[in-house]
Amino acid sequence: MSIILGIESSCDETAAALVTSDREILSHKLAGQEAAHAPFGGVVPEIAARAHAEIITPLIEAALTEAQLKLEQVEAIAATAGPGLIGGVMVGLVTGKALAMAADKPLIAVNHLEGHALSPRLANPDLQFPYLLLLASGGHCQILRVEGVNAYRRLATTIDDAAGEAYDKTAKILGLGYPGGPKVEALARTGNAAAVPLPRPLKGSNEPHFSFAGLKSAVVRAHDSQAYEPQDIAAAFQQATVDCLEDRLEKAISDHGPAPDLVVAGGVAANGPIRAMLEQLASRHDMRFTAPPLWLCTDNAAMIAWAGAERFAAGHTDSLDFVARPRWPLDPAAEKARGAGVKA
Ligand code: KG4
Ligand code: ZN
Repeated sequence: MSIILGIESSCDETAAALVTSDREILSHKLAGQEAAHAPFGGVVPEIAARAHAEIITPLIEAALTEAQLKLEQVEAIAATAGPGLIGGVMVGLVTGKALAMAADKPLIAVNHLEGHALSPRLANPDLQFPYLLLLASGGHCQILRVEGVNAYRRLATTIDDAAGEAYDKTAKILGLGYPGGPKVEALARTGNAAAVPLPRPLKGSNEPHFSFAGLKSAVVRAHDSQAYEPQDIAAAFQQATVDCLEDRLEKAISDHGPAPDLVVAGGVAANGPIRAMLEQLASRHDMRFTAPPLWLCTDNAAMIAWAGAERFAAGHTDSLDFVARPRWPLDPAAEKARGAGVKA
């Protein structure tokens, strides 16, 4: 049994966790930055990087204290090395390197997406490779076939916005504040999706990818027309998002076949109607549906520690000159999607 320290700082959550190779979460600490970014309606990279730098060391200390451990008892140090906002990534990675050097422990540079991709295996010991993963967060919207540690096939990605980003932008347009996902979901509960006609970008398309930019523009137009109630716009937006996710997953399954398990990760996995759609889709294809607990779906350091544990067990460690990567596709063989380049 080995204990891994995980460090996460790629977006707007600073996090530290201690996780064992036996899937025991000894401690996990998280500091959000919502209040700092709320006035701007989105994450401001410079503010994020400074906030990470202020809190990361006390947060790691707090995680060690809660687990009643000293750094010497840790087997390896796993830090997110990308993709993400580069200032924040550098704060976490450099901290991880410094600790690794001081305590003479191996460093494991973790791809943040790999953290999300493997997190369901931390929560569920029975989840075996391969599985089909919908990774939907504020920065990413991908369908991956997870074949093993370090073996990811990207079947689809977004050519413009991520699903969570579309939620956040819709919330901003409707004046609901940040972060938008839960707010749009709550407002949508009181609305009528059929009242507002909105497009389903790329639905039925022969290419496998996602697109949400056109949906967002249609939300802007619907809002500006003053012809619709905000709750109806929210409900219609959510229904369009559910339809797009479902259609693209159907396409991936039809092109590449099902897998024993369908798994969802990323903050958007918190969404009730999206989860309900995924459950039904899985049962139609005789797949089991798994979602990690919500706190493990959104950004956290336990998933980074766990990915570190899986990589460590597979013999992957990194040298102290590993450079932080703002972009870092999980599947290096994946072709660039049309129009893409903004997202990893
Ligand atoms: O994985 P995550 O915590 O951070 C990123 O790596 O982006 O995901 C955050 C995203 C945000 O865009 C947020 O609006 C979205 O997940 N989100 C939701 C819900 N809760 C969070 N989207 C839809 N419905 C929700 N209930
Ligand atoms: Zn994330």
